[in-house]
Amino acid sequence: MSAAKPLTRIVAWSHELLAEVLEPGQAALDLTAGNGHDTLFLARQSGAGGTVLAFDVQEQALAATAERLRLAGISWRPAAPGPLPGAGVYLAHDSHAHLERYQTGALRAVIANLGYLPGGDPTRVTQPATTLAALAPAARRLAVGGRIAVVVYPGHPGGAEEGRAVAGIFGRLPSAHWQVLRLEVANHPRVPYLLVAAKSRAEAPLGADCPDSNC
Ligand SMILES: C[S@@+](CC[C@H](N)C(=O)[O-])C[C@H]1O[C@@H](n2cnc3c(N)ncnc32)[C@H](O)[C@@H]1O
Repeated sequence: MSAAKPLTRIVAWSHELLAEVLEPGQAALDLTAGNGHDTLFLARQSGAGGTVLAFDVQEQALAATAERLRLAGISWRPAAPGPLPGAGVYLAHDSHAHLERYQTGALRAVIANLGYLPGGDPTRVTQPATTLAALAPAARRLAVGGRIAVVVYPGHPGGAEEGRAVAGIFGRLPSAHWQVLRLEVANHPRVPYLLVAAKSRAEAPLGADCPDSNC
């Protein structure tokens, strides 16, 4: 029998729920690379033939992510706006609000681990406006069967408001095309919680930047 995970490990739940839908050769997006744990998870899950695009606005975060990938034996390339030149892991030193400048193909998994860089400047937090600006095109590009996982940290200034903003747009996704899950530790109100949106049916009309009929 496998050891039970502590119920409070919200990031582990996010990985588990994305691992169910992300297969080798598929495309994934990390909106906040940070220390690279999520990027590495996506890279391992999508394999050598898969594509992972990870954003961060801080060089310190991208350096930590690059080092984590290097230690895991996974190579990466800097991302530039436009089409990604083939499979691989791409790191974008850019705001995720500029996602529309990067052509990713249909996405199978998206993660956004909000808040600030652990061990970094706690004032450089994700902001509701840019987070929502990234989630909108990510949702349009999501393949049917794909999932978006957002880890919300309500404990820092602005974190609770940002969580409410994401929960607001996820809550308005049409139930004919989307399933939305909220996973929280009910007896610890200020610890992280998880929002997951799963695209269950193609949306009509297709999003403007949907790369193919699979979105
Ligand atoms: C909680 S950390 C991410 C943790 C990370 N996913 C990991 O696995 O270690 C949040 C990150 O979001 C980044 N960030 C903040 N605003 C951003 C933006 N507009 N675009 C991209 N990244 C941003 C911060 O620099 C920080 O590194």
